Amino acid sequence: MVTIGTDSQAAKQYLEQGHVIGIPTETVYGLAGNALNPDAVLEIFRVKNRPAFDPLIVHTDSLDKLTRYVRDVPETARKLAETFWPGPLTLLLPKQAIVPDLVTSGLDTVAVRIPNHPLTLSLLRLLDFPLAAPSANPFGYISPTTAQHVADQLGDRIPYVLDGGPCDIGIESTIIGFPDGELPTVYRLGGMALEQIEAIIGPVALRSHSTSNPQAPGMLSSHYAPRKPFILLKPGESIPLVPYERAGALAFREPFGGIAGDHQRVLSPTGDLAEAAKNLFAHLRSLDNMDVDVIYAEPLPGRGLGRAINDRLKRAGAR
Ligand code: TXA
Ligand code: MG
Repeated sequence: MVTIGTDSQAAKQYLEQGHVIGIPTETVYGLAGNALNPDAVLEIFRVKNRPAFDPLIVHTDSLDKLTRYVRDVPETARKLAETFWPGPLTLLLPKQAIVPDLVTSGLDTVAVRIPNHPLTLSLLRLLDFPLAAPSANPFGYISPTTAQHVADQLGDRIPYVLDGGPCDIGIESTIIGFPDGELPTVYRLGGMALEQIEAIIGPVALRSHSTSNPQAPGMLSSHYAPRKPFILLKPGESIPLVPYERAGALAFREPFGGIAGDHQRVLSPTGDLAEAAKNLFAHLRSLDNMDVDVIYAEPLPGRGLGRAINDRLKRAGAR
C-alpha cells in the first residue's frame, strides 16, 4: 500500500533504492525516479503504462548541476533559465551521454527544468542524481494536482507519494526548444505564458497540436482525457438539450443555464486565468467521477494561460 507523507528522507531512500515515487511540483505531481538509472526509468514507463517513444523531463535544482546533463546552453535558453527558473518552463537542450537514451526516447535533446516547489527542491538537493518525472497519471488520463490524486490512480504501483499540497499552477510546464537556424520553438503550451517568454527573448514559433511531430513525440492529441465523453463547445455556444442525457459542465466564470448546479464546476468566478488553470484538472476529475453521461466545457479567452487551458480542453475532447 502507498504511503502519503512529507518525509524527504524517506523519499530520498526510496529513490536511492531505484524505486519510483510521487513528488509535488508547482505544475502537476510527477512520477519520479533516478534519471541516471535505466532500471528506475523503465519502472516509470511501466507504472504509467507509457509508450517508450514518449520522452521524459529531467528535474534538477540548480543551473550548476545542469551542465552535467546538457552539452550546451544557448544564450536564449540561458536567459529564460535565469529569468524563470525555478518555474513552469522546460528547455530542450543537447544531452550529455550520461543521460540514458531511455529518458529521451533516443532523441539527442533532453528536456530539463528546475521545478518551483520547496519540498521537491530540498529533496533534489539531498540527491546526487536528477529526477526523471512525467506527470503522475496513467498514460492519457488527467494529470494529478494533489497527492491524493496520485494515490487514487497509482497507489497500488508505487510505495510513496511526497505530499506538497495542491499544485499552485495546475497545468504542465511550457516546453521550448532551440532548433538550429530557427526561432525558439514552443512544443507544448503550459504554465509559463507565451507572452512572458516573448517579453524576454522576442518572437517564438509554436508547434504543438500535432500528432506526428518527431520533435515532440509525446504531443499526442488524445491526452488529458476524462473517461466520460467530453465535448468542447464553440465560444458562446450553449449546451444542446438532449432528451434523457445527464450533462455535466465545466464553466469559466458562471454556471450554464439549464443544468443542475451540482453537475457543474466553475473554473474562476472572477475570470482569473491563473485560478482557472489551478482548478482545471481537479474540476475535470470531479466531473468525471459524477453521475453524468457527458461533460461539456466552454473555451477560455485565448490569451495568457487561457491558451494552455484551451489546448488541454481540445485534447481532452479528441478521441
Ligand atoms: O510540468 C511538467 O512538465 C510535469 C512536471 C512533473 O514537471 N511533467 C510533465 O511530464 O508534464 P510529461 O512526461 O507528462 O510530459 C513531458 C513532455 C512529453 O509530452 C514529451 O514528449 C516531451 O515532454 N518531451 C520530453 N523530452 C523531449 C524531447 N527531448 N524532445 C521533445 N519533447 C520532449
Ligand atoms: Mg503528462
